[in-house]
Amino acid sequence: MSLASDIHLPAVQLVNVSMAYRGAAGEVPVLHDVTVGFPERYLTAVMGPSGSGKTTLLHCAAGLERPIGGKVFLGNTELDTGDDRALTESRRRRIGFVFQQFNLLPMLTVYENVALPLRLSGARVRRPVVMEALRQVGLEDKAGRRPAQLSGGQQQRAAIARTLVVEPELVFADEPTGSLDRATGRQVMDLLRHVVDKTGRTVVMVTHDPVAAAYADRVIFLVDGQVMGKIDHPSVDEIAAELGRWES
Ligand SMILES: Nc1ncnc2c1ncn2[C@@H]1O[C@H](COP(=O)(O)OP(=O)(O)OP(=O)(O)O)[C@@H](O)[C@H]1O
Ligand SMILES: [Mg+2]
Repeated sequence: MSLASDIHLPAVQLVNVSMAYRGAAGEVPVLHDVTVGFPERYLTAVMGPSGSGKTTLLHCAAGLERPIGGKVFLGNTELDTGDDRALTESRRRRIGFVFQQFNLLPMLTVYENVALPLRLSGARVRRPVVMEALRQVGLEDKAGRRPAQLSGGQQQRAAIARTLVVEPELVFADEPTGSLDRATGRQVMDLLRHVVDKTGRTVVMVTHDPVAAAYADRVIFLVDGQVMGKIDHPSVDEIAAELGRWES
């Protein structure tokens, strides 16, 4: 193996990122001067107490929200969340986002849901491309079903296929196993691991579950809007112990 393939440059980097929301009592700070990089071809898990800013961090990293301070880099390029249509379109193709509640459209078939990002971007929908995305998540035989006719784990896999269909470099997932039972959650984690190991993508996910986080190459701990810890190649016990420090 060449040395170069062992080097994991940051796929996304947040530099001195701050975020706040306007509340009834004025501005509420959520992220404080966060500097963190997410290495390419890594599965990184973000953990921390409820309200610590994990979803906000993911949204800022994915360009879904614009931080009030600092910069976000996608590779070497500063992520611009402005109105430039071409930039927005290129970001959309480079970044996929998976939600806890799957967000599949109930009236469309699984095939149509997965084809949707291609349709929305104006690309020609080629059946083999959509079927390949479904094959990667093991749902090629469910293409004609509606989401309600799938189990929770299958729905989440369909949602992952929908992000993979545009072949993004990066996949963000906010509590992708949060609505699933343990066994089904593991299938989804196996799939995300596969997405990193077999297709060379970068995945950044938020989770509250130490078992899910132990699939990651690295876990970072966010507490009160600051990165307070990091474990590489974590075990479930190490994660649980670190979480215990911050959640009590
Ligand atoms: N759109 C918004 N407007 C106002 N406040 C917000 C908004 N989004 C988040 N917040 C606040 O920012 C803080 C961090 O929220 P965030 O959703 O990032 O936390 P989290 O770590 O993802 O929590 P959880 O584990 O419960 O999902 C919370 O106090 C939340 O109430
Ligand atoms: Mg959240």
